[in-house]
Amino acid sequence: VRGRFVVDADKSVSHRALLIGALARGATRISNLLDSEDCRATRRAIRQLGVGVRETGDETIVSGRGLRGLAPAAGEIDCGNSGTTMRLLAGVLAGQPFESTLTGDVSLSRRPMDRIILPLREMGARITGSEDSRPPIHISGGDLTGKSHSLPIASAQVKSCLLLAGLLASGSTSVSEPAASRDHTERMLGYFGVDVETDGNRHTVRGDDQPLGREVTVPADISSAAFFIVAALLLDGSDAILPSVGTNPTRSGALEVLRAMGGQIRLLDERLLGPEPVADVQAGRSRLEGALIRGEIVPRLIDEIPIIAVAATQASGKTTIADASELRVKESDRIAAIVAELGKMGARIDPRPDGMVVDGPTRLRGARVDSHGDHRIAMALAIAGSLADGKTTISGAECIRISFPGFVRLLPRFAMVDVDE
Ligand code: S3P
Repeated sequence: VRGRFVVDADKSVSHRALLIGALARGATRISNLLDSEDCRATRRAIRQLGVGVRETGDETIVSGRGLRGLAPAAGEIDCGNSGTTMRLLAGVLAGQPFESTLTGDVSLSRRPMDRIILPLREMGARITGSEDSRPPIHISGGDLTGKSHSLPIASAQVKSCLLLAGLLASGSTSVSEPAASRDHTERMLGYFGVDVETDGNRHTVRGDDQPLGREVTVPADISSAAFFIVAALLLDGSDAILPSVGTNPTRSGALEVLRAMGGQIRLLDERLLGPEPVADVQAGRSRLEGALIRGEIVPRLIDEIPIIAVAATQASGKTTIADASELRVKESDRIAAIVAELGKMGARIDPRPDGMVVDGPTRLRGARVDSHGDHRIAMALAIAGSLADGKTTISGAECIRISFPGFVRLLPRFAMVDVDE
């Protein structure tokens, strides 16, 4: 894994640039917007709500309609596989004076929505899901009242949903969470001129604080970078540079853990790209030791746990991951998926209700494995396959397009890859 690996743009930041751009007054020009299936779902959704979105070269221009300028969608809004699209949009639509229906694919239709439905109702929203609060979601938007929310779990999607609803509510709305989750919404709102008050893990916005359109450049996604950082740590002769990767501390727990495991990772040229910190990340072959991962760091590396589990199979000693039961309600049950599939490759890995235990190091062997329809599982298995003896075949790998379409262009730089359509 040598040389420069330019990974795709940040998915979370891309969703927020589109959505906050839609609610802004004036134009938002976005450079390096991620063009993945999830972000296409958000782009389609805001277009359905009457927002102009144009692509010119590397720029996407969103013609914001202001907080109260959206138009009702003709028909349902299909959020595809994207929990971020559904949950953030639900907050926005709860405060619009029209009806909306949000649907999703099979995976999204299994994911819990009570975590947004119940607090939005407390703000006066008329919103329902299926009998057990799964999608599709029906919203009869209208007047909302600001409220102080205390979330039982750290979730950036829920926090962002409620803060966006707060912009449409009377009075102030605050959200506190038990540990810090990614703060891209707070940063982006602040960058668009909204006054977001932050006190520890509590964030407050006021109704009708109108965002103003701006220029945004999206950093490379640390969650996508993590696959190649881990590959560089594990494959002999590696020395890789990944330029302009987002290093927001609410996202970079994986770098902390991999370093604590012995990973040679350096941040070069640390700087700000608009509201987000970035750096060029350098990673090289390292000897890893097992680690204990639990507590407040877990929300800061939640999406990187599948690839951390791959790293743990090559580390000496035991790696224990706890306090991560949220993994069970991601695009797949990621605890069950990664344990089952790495197990097929010879890893010593056991599930726990809230995480897993990996015993390393083990020599992985190529196997027929399955993505469980989950992009991060597919990519973690591809990196595991590049370490393993023999051939690994990943079925359902097309879901990689959900977050990181460029992955299949970078992987052949250090692994032999056949793509079978
Ligand atoms: C995201 C938040 C996280 C993360 C997801 C993206 C976001 O989900 O797992 O991939 O962009 O806000 P939760 O809010 O459910 O923890």
